[in-house]
Amino acid sequence: QQNSFSLFSISEPVNMETNRILCLGKLCVDIIAECEDFPQEDSDQRCKRQRWQRGGNANNTSTVLSILGAPVEYLGTIANSHELGFLRDDYQRAGIIIDNCVIVDNCSCPVSLVLLSSVSGSRTIIHDSGSLPELTHKDFQVDLGSYAWVHFEGRPSAAEQVKMLRDIDNHNADLEENDRITTSVELEKNRPALAQLIDKADYVFISKDYATAHGFYSKEDAVEGFVDKIREGATVICAWGEDGACAKPKGEPTISVPAISPGTIIDTLGAGDTFNAAMIHALCKGAVLQSALTFACKVAGEKCGMKGFSGLR
Ligand code: FRU
Repeated sequence: QQNSFSLFSISEPVNMETNRILCLGKLCVDIIAECEDFPQEDSDQRCKRQRWQRGGNANNTSTVLSILGAPVEYLGTIANSHELGFLRDDYQRAGIIIDNCVIVDNCSCPVSLVLLSSVSGSRTIIHDSGSLPELTHKDFQVDLGSYAWVHFEGRPSAAEQVKMLRDIDNHNADLEENDRITTSVELEKNRPALAQLIDKADYVFISKDYATAHGFYSKEDAVEGFVDKIREGATVICAWGEDGACAKPKGEPTISVPAISPGTIIDTLGAGDTFNAAMIHALCKGAVLQSALTFACKVAGEKCGMKGFSGLR
């Protein structure tokens, strides 16, 4: 069965050994309460439904990539806590490889309480990062020959991620262009540590939050503002919710595309992570920037019109 994104869905068998997309960053459990409306403080009420979902930006991006048909691996630390069984089973169901993850004893799993409002589709996130340590450069023990693309969600441990990106650059240095790993970083939360990632990857995803925290109030201003900071040959990308998205390769004009609304907004949790996944997928399949942006806005829009991600199938 073809999904509505068949333009970039996989029609030929993919080689899991050499073409994998690796996503590094946060994994948490999202405990999602679907509420009629945003709750009143100090009220006692019923929700429509409560569910657990694998969460965290990099993890969500891996989920959507897998649904779109990409061979994908998630790499991060995972707490050896009672949530581990749920996370492992769910990765297996999704067909996402987690073989290189580091299971950490004696710590708690990051958890988000998410209130989804049926009226607006808004998602209010209350996150506890637990006591799980971040992945370090020492933990980055992977066979780089397995990957076509490596995506990093910028973390407070960005200095460690910089070392991992350096390993990838060194690996690429001896290879023909076609065999090189493409890299991307996501700068989402306004954390000073993330600035050191901006010139270390081929594609830089800047979130609306990150852009506004740096004084940019439109997607075009954001890419214009950040393009000087990215490295030669790189591209900066910025999605702006209902205002669509744009991208600017260094030294080239900005390309802007409008958002594609699903009609009714049902669930916006992970919409940005979905955009990133669709962008990576399309670019991996050889799409030009404009088509990749249009595709990513379409998939992110569709995601907002459904609960969770599985309906993207
Ligand atoms: C959505 C998300 C959730 C997670 C939260 C962490 O983008 O990754 O899955 O709970 O953000 O900030």
